[in-house]
Amino acid sequence: MGSFYVTTPIYYVNDIPHLGHAYTTIVADVLARYHRAQGDAVFFLTGTDEHGQKIERAAQASKIQPIELANQVVARFRQTWVNLEIHNDDFIRTTEPRHREVVHALWRRMQQAGDIYLGEYDGLYCVSCEEYYTEGQLAEGGLCPIHNTAVEHLKQPSYFFRMSRYQDRLLEHIQQHPEFVRPEMRKNEIVSFIQSGLRDLSISRTTFKWGIPVPDDPDHVIYVWVDALTNYISALGGLEGKRFDFWPAQVHLIGKDILRHHAVYWPTMLMSANLPLPRTVFAHGWWTINGQKMSKSLRNAVEPNMIAADLGVDALRYFVTRETPLGNDGDFSHEALLHRVNSELANDLGNLLNRSVAMARMYTDNVVPPFAQDLEADPADAELIALALRCRDAAASNYENIAPSRALEAIWELVRGANKYIDTTAPYKMIKQPELHRRVQEVVANFLESLRWISLLVAPVMPNKAMEIRRQIGLGQADAGGQLQSWPDRWGELPAGLDLREGQPLFPRIDKDRKAELLQRWTSPASPNPDAAGGEIKNMNVEQPTDSDDGVTFEEFSRIDLRVAQIVEAAPVEGADRLLLLKVSLGQEQRQVVAGIAQAYTPEQLVGRKVIFVANLKPAKIRGVLSEGMILAAGGKKVVALSALDCDVEPGTVVR
Ligand code: MSP
Repeated sequence: MGSFYVTTPIYYVNDIPHLGHAYTTIVADVLARYHRAQGDAVFFLTGTDEHGQKIERAAQASKIQPIELANQVVARFRQTWVNLEIHNDDFIRTTEPRHREVVHALWRRMQQAGDIYLGEYDGLYCVSCEEYYTEGQLAEGGLCPIHNTAVEHLKQPSYFFRMSRYQDRLLEHIQQHPEFVRPEMRKNEIVSFIQSGLRDLSISRTTFKWGIPVPDDPDHVIYVWVDALTNYISALGGLEGKRFDFWPAQVHLIGKDILRHHAVYWPTMLMSANLPLPRTVFAHGWWTINGQKMSKSLRNAVEPNMIAADLGVDALRYFVTRETPLGNDGDFSHEALLHRVNSELANDLGNLLNRSVAMARMYTDNVVPPFAQDLEADPADAELIALALRCRDAAASNYENIAPSRALEAIWELVRGANKYIDTTAPYKMIKQPELHRRVQEVVANFLESLRWISLLVAPVMPNKAMEIRRQIGLGQADAGGQLQSWPDRWGELPAGLDLREGQPLFPRIDKDRKAELLQRWTSPASPNPDAAGGEIKNMNVEQPTDSDDGVTFEEFSRIDLRVAQIVEAAPVEGADRLLLLKVSLGQEQRQVVAGIAQAYTPEQLVGRKVIFVANLKPAKIRGVLSEGMILAAGGKKVVALSALDCDVEPGTVVR
């Protein structure tokens, strides 16, 4: 028995929970439940990250106070976690006084270590990441590499953390603790990042107010990442807190987008404060949709509450845990979800339960029969028991090793093995021969026992269905009121004489019509969300399709990729006297656009001019001609003047 402290990132409150957030939280919950079943003292933390410029701007855009925005979104997160059967031990909010105190305490320790000094920051900043970038780190076109949006130039006085001082110690720590950054690929990334040289980190801001003030210098607010990372300790009550025994965390489970913060900033902060480092920072991959990261700004987020309401939360938990090995990216597909539900849950597991209970009802008077005297006398029984032991141990070591997808893989070997055991022993044939009735009893006891084992093995992932399996095999009474917190030990412990219970199919098969109905509902953007928490959030800058006239948010605006374009060719479009076909250069590439400016400009007037161009407008055909963008011009329906720049600028330059 040990101690197991697992965390999720704390989520920003400018976004409502989507499948990406649900994924991390479900996996963390699975690990926590597994460790509880092992008898470990578990502390499982999640929460919300509520400060920073991003949140302040989102609130401004919605014309509400940041704390109101936070309160609304926090309610959504909390309810979503209830819906998804997340049993966290605490929920930390960075706006809570208990958190603020610990942020100050940590700051002071770093200050006392001589690691904080006042300087000036001059650099490029992405508000969505709350992160500075160097030119070299930006994506093509000078955009943020994570969000593909424009970065801002920021110059301000700032406190700095002497992160550079810890470069060698951090490298050494990683070398000596190969489990510190996982998976391996991420460790390599981090090592080469550190080897390329750690610079001091700017850890305060003066351009906005929404944050925790720097102790003794309230003109500065503490950089939101320093604030946020401290949550992992503030939830323990700080350094003197009762729960501080849980520190260091066993696992910080995060997405790969925030690896550097957890594997570089956080450990160096801890070193400065003279605190032990977490055992493992595990960065999982991204769920993508058609290859793009799922996120609010791309409006492609999958809504987990609705899927859970339609399929049952256990099916969703199973799918996200099983579908991709933790660490890899996975492309989310609703079809793949339904396929796994039908084949692995309805067919393999559902059927095993269904046929087992049905046979027991017919052949053993609806009660659990006694096991054979010698459990392994029959080779088929011995094989089943050996398989169960092997799968149990493989499941345990995979859960332990933060590989829950592989744990499920191992468990399904047992599910299939138990189905095969029924097929090979064929009790429905033996029952016709009275002299084999005793053997039928032993066989029924064995497959009910495999269900008992399976119920415990799957419980971390599917807590409800695990209980339902147990209820049907007669263990409902034993479990009453409690959660499943044990792990299979010895074969043959299912007590004889328990009454079996009638039950609905564990996972009803989804037929063609139902499938079509579900796909339609889940993928239509206007779907009402029956189970989302807290009702409608009004006036909120959460990225849901909106046709309101309240104005666009800064983030929405930032999605429009405006560039300087030079017109290199212009020609009339046959049969359309308002249109011209233009070729424009964006520096690296050329585009063709159909522009409705023929009545204001002749082709000759246009060639060589530089205009402002919308570079990420979806391509469309206009009068049968492909148009790959749009040039900006003044005038309503009738164009009166082209957009222009007041000095010469390179084609391709970002406009914002
Ligand atoms: N507030 C910071 C984290 C601070 S932790 C001290 C933050 N918040 S976030 O709301 O943007 O959440 C990021 C996390 O959500 C990712 O690290 C990941 O765990 C999860 N995911 C968000 N989108 C995701 C996908 N598309 N796919 C998988 N997980 C993703 O960053």
